[in-house]
Amino acid sequence: MSEKSPLLPYEWPGSYYIGEEEIEAVTRVLLARSPFRFYGPDLQHYVDQLEDAYRKRLGRAHALAVNSGTAALSIALSAMDVGPGDEVLLPGYLWVSCVSAVVRAGAIPRLVDIDDTFFMDPDDLERKITPHSKVVMAINMSGTTGHIDRVVEIAHAHNLLVLEDTAQANGASFRGRPLGSFGDMAIFSFQLNKNMTAGEGGMIVCDDQRLYDRAVAFHDLGYPRNAQGRLVTDQPEYQLWGQGSRMNELSAAMLVAQERKLDAITAAMRRLNHRLYAGLAGIAGLRPRRVLDPEGDSGPFVLLIWPDAETCQRMIAATRAAGVVTGPLGINNIPMTEWGLHLYYNNVSLTEKRGVNSAGRPWSDPANAFAADYTYGRGTLKQADDLFSRTSLLSVPPALTDEACDRLIAIFRQAAANLGL
Ligand SMILES: Cc1ncc(COP(=O)(O)O)c(C=O)c1O
Repeated sequence: MSEKSPLLPYEWPGSYYIGEEEIEAVTRVLLARSPFRFYGPDLQHYVDQLEDAYRKRLGRAHALAVNSGTAALSIALSAMDVGPGDEVLLPGYLWVSCVSAVVRAGAIPRLVDIDDTFFMDPDDLERKITPHSKVVMAINMSGTTGHIDRVVEIAHAHNLLVLEDTAQANGASFRGRPLGSFGDMAIFSFQLNKNMTAGEGGMIVCDDQRLYDRAVAFHDLGYPRNAQGRLVTDQPEYQLWGQGSRMNELSAAMLVAQERKLDAITAAMRRLNHRLYAGLAGIAGLRPRRVLDPEGDSGPFVLLIWPDAETCQRMIAATRAAGVVTGPLGINNIPMTEWGLHLYYNNVSLTEKRGVNSAGRPWSDPANAFAADYTYGRGTLKQADDLFSRTSLLSVPPALTDEACDRLIAIFRQAAANLGL
């Protein structure tokens, strides 16, 4: 391999595993002419199978497939009855969907700092809770989690519900327990960047029957359905407003096949992830992301914390020049500051407090007057700002070869030596 050619394959993990099983399952739905989940001429029940696989995988009572992770977040917040007058606590390392779900619910996002696990800092969570707090959104970012056990404990001690966002850590676990089993509700995404994919899709899991029943109504047309898949309108408790986010059978067919491969996908990434962290260890001044349970990391990212922003930029420039880049389609070996809407202060709609309508809701809502002096610009979260400014991000595609992995390590070590680290 030439030194200047891109060393890294593109980063969309599940896509590498799309094969005969997915083709066969999708074809089955097409031949049955039954792409709708609730009825059809010859329903194949792939959505049911997928939900069953998630219930079993996570040991949860309920699973509800939806059409995206973003929709899953909105539906879960609706099920938890979040609205004007409420605030949702969420970390500064997140995805734009996490904030938009809160704002679209009419509630107020309240930012919590992160620690060097890149997960919510439990101590800051405790400081940030107010009488308006209703839900803690615990977001498992870049393949793994942080002190999730403490975060759940603190939230429950304050009678707050936990919505666990596991979009970026599907198939991961923490000390033997699957991520997605910690929150009162948890969500997943099956968008292309995720550990398994159908291009689009999402999942909500929970144990509480009422939360589940409300989520079912909200994800559909506001009402439950009977065994024939027809809407039921005579249950007063479930005469709600739906948001049209059902999963279809074609997506589910693909996802049933992908779910069976998920553990192989994460095992492949985890192995490479460990190889990279081990190979880069010992570079003076470099501190890797703190991973509390490396065996539970689903593996898609390696985060490298450099002594300062300048060193971070110089290491990236040197290693990119030596070939640590992907082909034209992918994103890799970048400073975290360029990680777009994953960083709270890069989200202009948030920093500018843009409303969901011309009246400026939810910020202008009198029920939310308590949040008038909340700010969201850079400077709001000291630890997050510091970590973002000097961390570089490598994605770890399952197709990365051991040879490329070792070449990458050698390039980083050489660049560090050249910088006198
Ligand atoms: C942390 C997180 N939450 C939610 C989502 C939303 O998922 P989707 O793209 O399926 O709407 C994503 C991914 O895009 C994400 O990374």
